[in-house]
Amino acid sequence: MQPTSLGSNLTGTALTPAALLAMNEASDELMPEEEIDTSEMEAQKLVAIAEADAVGSVPPPASIKGAVKSGVSRIKGGHPVIFMDKIGERIAFERTGTRLYDALIVKYRAAVEHHPDALPRELPPDGEDGVAISGDPGELLARIRAEELEHFSLLCEAMTQLGGDPTAQTPCADVTAVASSGLMQVLNDPRTTLAQCLNAMLTAELTDNAGWELLVSLAEEAGESELAGRFLGALGQEQEHLAIIKGWLTALVSEQPQPDLV
Ligand SMILES: [Fe+2]
Repeated sequence: MQPTSLGSNLTGTALTPAALLAMNEASDELMPEEEIDTSEMEAQKLVAIAEADAVGSVPPPASIKGAVKSGVSRIKGGHPVIFMDKIGERIAFERTGTRLYDALIVKYRAAVEHHPDALPRELPPDGEDGVAISGDPGELLARIRAEELEHFSLLCEAMTQLGGDPTAQTPCADVTAVASSGLMQVLNDPRTTLAQCLNAMLTAELTDNAGWELLVSLAEEAGESELAGRFLGALGQEQEHLAIIKGWLTALVSEQPQPDLV
């Protein structure tokens, strides 16, 4: 893992103006005179969308007994199926979040060992709301990782309480796993820097914060005030995670040793 440096990057066209000119000439020559019509491609996509199955489904409550006793049937308002789908989504995301932090902790240890110059010399002051950004980074990362895992357990409990199966992959859980797979690739790529990984984690934490906000409103709409309160507690911790990751990233980007341009 090397810090960002100048090197023989050959991807830009500025290095080969003659080749750029040739490419543009070929493009002009081969380009049809009329504007390219993409309507057929869009029409085919519309047909495929209309014919496609859904991405999975939300399973019915684990047992009729469960449903009557404590399951979805007790939800008075809101959208019970969507609520359970979204709980399933957060279960998947918090599980991935725990793994993302596992990978980030390894990346941090690698930076401490091999590239201490790629670590922020000075962490930013604590956040406006008294969020503790400063502190031993290794300990803070371990704490955040533990909280992601706690959130996973909290959500599994909530799903069970509502009569659902926390091990079932709901449609939104499936979609969010696909969407976040790129983050895992960034974190586990041996070449990525700590700053690049923190940038990927920023995407995860921003999504996480919005996801918990939505879950709190869905719980309130469903009349599940006790659950809404517990979700609100998790949201508070996610807000801290976001402040910490954002603060570190800013510190790293602004303090990283700058290579000479000449
Ligand atoms: Fe988080």
